[in-house]
Amino acid sequence: MMTGGTNLPASGSSAPEESGANPGEGADRAFFGRRKGKRLRAGQEQRLAELLPTLRVALPALGRKLDPTTLFPHPVDELRLEIGFGGGEHLAAQAGRAPGTGFIGAEPFVNGVVKLLRAVDEAALRNVRVWDEDVTALLSALPDACLARVDLLYPDPWPKRRQRKRRFVSDETLREIARLLKPEGRFRFASDIDDYAGWTLVRAARCPGLAWTARASSDWTRPWPDWPGTRYEAKAVAAGRKPTYLEFARVDPA
Ligand SMILES: C[S@@+](CC[C@H](N)C(=O)[O-])C[C@H]1O[C@@H](n2cnc3c(N)ncnc32)[C@H](O)[C@@H]1O
Repeated sequence: MMTGGTNLPASGSSAPEESGANPGEGADRAFFGRRKGKRLRAGQEQRLAELLPTLRVALPALGRKLDPTTLFPHPVDELRLEIGFGGGEHLAAQAGRAPGTGFIGAEPFVNGVVKLLRAVDEAALRNVRVWDEDVTALLSALPDACLARVDLLYPDPWPKRRQRKRRFVSDETLREIARLLKPEGRFRFASDIDDYAGWTLVRAARCPGLAWTARASSDWTRPWPDWPGTRYEAKAVAAGRKPTYLEFARVDPA
């Protein structure tokens, strides 16, 4: 298991902010993406009105923690969270393969949410719940060590230097993800932007409780064996970009 710092994929950046912690970065997180795209069709509006309320995560009063096992109508073996699921293709595929696992998907983009709702409806998935807002409030409401896995797949890249503070990955969000993972739980990250992979490795290496699991370059150049792909990834590969796949384990802080 690597704790970062060696054999890093090219970061493509020698930015000064890479050299030390950035306490302010991400501290005032908000959602920076789009909430709405194309006008919804009648069937999509109907699922939004009828199905979403039955799947939507309700947060407890401020300062209290959510018991995520109570979100599902049946006991679940373990819980996973996917942050920014886009159209939900990856989330629905994983949920279909693991009916005993509870999946929470966070995505504020309504056109993405309706795509996931369709997949949930058509495959009659009973193990998916949705948080259709910025995931930050959900993270704060979840108790320590409740998740077996957190997936962050192709987060918005914000490539311009002045926009980078909008990136989802920060010292603060990684600390929060580490807090939520069970011992030996996994955090998966994928990106087609080398600079973002390097950015994440630097921050994960200084995050107590996270250790990079890579042993060979194939571990970050090839997707995981259970990987169904994502819509954004398919576009990136078609455009000639090479994804990087990073996995971190929740370990005892050194
Ligand atoms: C580039 S897209 C990738 C979507 C999907 N993971 C894929 O690979 O096809 C990034 C997604 O993250 C979502 N997102 C951005 N910030 C978020 C946040 N704070 N909480 C939840 N989702 C977020 C965006 O709405 C967008 O759909």
